[in-house]
Amino acid sequence: MLEDLERVLIDETQIRRRVRELAREIAIHYQAEQGGLTIVPIMSGSIIFLADLIREIPLKLKISLAHLSSYREGTQSGALEPLVTPVKDITGRHVLIVDDILDTGRTLRFIQGLIRGLEPTSLRTAVLLRKPAKAPPEIPVDFVAFDIDDLFVVGYGLDYADVYRNYPHIGVLKRELMP
Ligand code: IMP
Ligand code: MG
Repeated sequence: MLEDLERVLIDETQIRRRVRELAREIAIHYQAEQGGLTIVPIMSGSIIFLADLIREIPLKLKISLAHLSSYREGTQSGALEPLVTPVKDITGRHVLIVDDILDTGRTLRFIQGLIRGLEPTSLRTAVLLRKPAKAPPEIPVDFVAFDIDDLFVVGYGLDYADVYRNYPHIGVLKRELMP
């Protein structure tokens, strides 16, 4: 796995520290709100981030998985595949979408629209990574762990063709491995 990476961009220690900080910000925000919190993690990229984040949020919350994927085998955004499971526990609740990365914003635009239609009390979004050079300004994200350059990264849940999600750091994939 390591031989496929050009370099480590954000190491495990930096990730741990920042995710803890972000969880604190999120907890402070929601502890003042009345009503229940539902976290909607976008599968599969958010799995590791989600697991670390929610264990640092000491509030009662529910989790409603949304399974969506836009990337196929390549690194360019393709057509979005449909939701595998319908999201639940949304109407009348505070909803926080959790995703791995805001790249072109297609995924978040889709899921935010879908959830808004289910009438949550509030809707916010947290992402591990954002590529500000590409992220459209009209897609609202409320909590961002790291802004990164427009690089293709893997690890800590992020994949290339479904591989590398278990790499503990966030690393840049070697260019020659991408079409
Ligand atoms: P968007 O819809 O273009 O914003 O892309 C969002 C999805 O594309 C993410 O949830 C990731 O699964 C994938 N993606 C975008 N950029 C990267 C990257 O640098 N590495 C791995 N996956 C990425
Ligand atoms: Mg992906």
